[in-house]
Amino acid sequence: MTYTFVTLFKNLVEGYFHDSILSRAIAKNILHVHYLNPRDYSDSKHSKVDDTAVGGGAGMVMNPQPLFDLLKDLKKSDENVHIIFLTPVAKPFRQNDAKRLALKSHIAFVSGRYEGIDERVIEEFADEVFSIGDYILTGGELASLVICDAISRNIEGVLGNSDSLSVESFETPLLEAPSFSKPQCYEQKSVPSEYLKGNHSRIRSLKLALSECKTQFFRPDQLLKHRTRKSYEK
Ligand code: ADE
Repeated sequence: MTYTFVTLFKNLVEGYFHDSILSRAIAKNILHVHYLNPRDYSDSKHSKVDDTAVGGGAGMVMNPQPLFDLLKDLKKSDENVHIIFLTPVAKPFRQNDAKRLALKSHIAFVSGRYEGIDERVIEEFADEVFSIGDYILTGGELASLVICDAISRNIEGVLGNSDSLSVESFETPLLEAPSFSKPQCYEQKSVPSEYLKGNHSRIRSLKLALSECKTQFFRPDQLLKHRTRKSYEK
């Protein structure tokens, strides 16, 4: 998978790939990461990339010209590139999007700063537009990293142990059961005794009950989805 980050602030993004799982995937040539800066494509004398909004409104909007030229070039270099824009005015990103997008060969994330991107750029080039939640960030860079991370762990070879994908929260509507590490007792708090007894079918049913409790508490909407799905299976 190749990722291209289209951003005015490469430094905000780059550090994320320096450590841990994604840096290993880069070293193994499973992931390739590139950066393109709209400023390098600006026709204006001072490499301007933004201007006041036509029709009024607060803040600066990113101009169409640098992004049109950059994205045309990008598409010329790879006709299969899948272009994603990050904005709060979009559909929410979900785990099933992460799984679907993990099958692409090249994804470009276009991050806006200031008050956003001229809508004509999005209309012309967006294959998809995502929001990562109902709040406003100062730019799309963090959102692009969130989405890139969620996609990457679904790419074959990125995670060490492929088991860890299938039982996670959002692979089913239920949230994951709590996990515990060693020691079995820490500061007088023990892990649930059933976890220690080695009876795997009893551990499985306890985990299911704990998953349902967590889901009821944190995400009652997801529990409803789980129960509806179960009733269809009967
Ligand atoms: N840019 C600013 N806020 C955002 C959000 N919530 N999701 C995606 N991109 C954004």
